[in-house]
Amino acid sequence: MKTPKRIQPLVDDGLVDEVIRSLMSGKEASVYIVRCGSEIRCAKVYKDASQRSFKQATQYQEGRKSRNSRRARAMEKGSRFGREQQETSWHSAEVDALYRLAEAGVRVPQPFGCFEGVLLMELITDVDGDVAPRLNDVSLSHEQALAGHAQLMRDIVRMLCAGLVHGDLSEFNVLMDASGPVIIDLPQAVDAAANNHAQWMLARDVESITAYYAQSAPELSDTRYAQEIWALYEKGELTPDVALSGRFVEEATDADVDAVLQVIQDAREEELARRQRLLDSNESD
Ligand SMILES: Nc1ncnc2c1ncn2[C@@H]1O[C@H](COP(=O)(O)OP(=O)(O)OP(=O)(O)O)[C@@H](O)[C@H]1O
Ligand SMILES: [Mg+2]
Repeated sequence: MKTPKRIQPLVDDGLVDEVIRSLMSGKEASVYIVRCGSEIRCAKVYKDASQRSFKQATQYQEGRKSRNSRRARAMEKGSRFGREQQETSWHSAEVDALYRLAEAGVRVPQPFGCFEGVLLMELITDVDGDVAPRLNDVSLSHEQALAGHAQLMRDIVRMLCAGLVHGDLSEFNVLMDASGPVIIDLPQAVDAAANNHAQWMLARDVESITAYYAQSAPELSDTRYAQEIWALYEKGELTPDVALSGRFVEEATDADVDAVLQVIQDAREEELARRQRLLDSNESD
């Protein structure tokens, strides 16, 4: 097909040899199938900030630091230079996350860099070599649902071990290749340690995936993976291969109740002592 304007610089630089066809044009980006030498790859072209939606929300940005202080100040001020820097940091967030996650053993497309707002990555395909369907578009047996769910819970754990929460995980951002689910679409991924919203975002990711698979394996609705995973993470006991049960029991709070009762008792005694002192001083007047 005719090379789209945004991909032309990559063709000029020899990073892309040919644009084969458009795969889809969504809210946040347009995705193309491209040829790089003898390899067929995927090119994701980000839309301008003005056309993007919720993923830009401040709750996703929290804890994201610019390594360059001049850049950080410009981003805060919102100048033109600042807005350009914000764009660059948005584009690099996804490619950075992909490199980090591939390294951590999470099933994501292999990235090949991000150039001028175009992310080059592995094209995920199915058993027949066709573009892989989204999880939402496949029908699953009971067994396949349990296996796919377990694989994704393991990948969510590995992501968290690598310090990230996806933040927009659902059956629409998972592709199905011959070996199971592959996670995509990560520009909004949040830093688990630095972002105060990480816990509820992890819970939302886990719950949306669980609700989807529970349509084929209803027993999954009674599981509490999000709470179990976060509790292990907070205790520093989360490891990439940790065995999960899907069960979670709130920690017994007897000790806390005792502590609260003690505080009340101390305050009461202090107040009684204060009144006594007042009485004593009145009597001695
Ligand atoms: N590596 C890939 N291999 C195959 N298909 C892909 C790949 N990356 C993206 N796609 C296809 O392009 C679609 C859009 O990609 P992605 O979800 O990353 O972009 P998006 O614009 O943020 O999408 P949306 O706003 O619809 O969530 C995916 O649903 C998938 O069908
Ligand atoms: Mg998407």
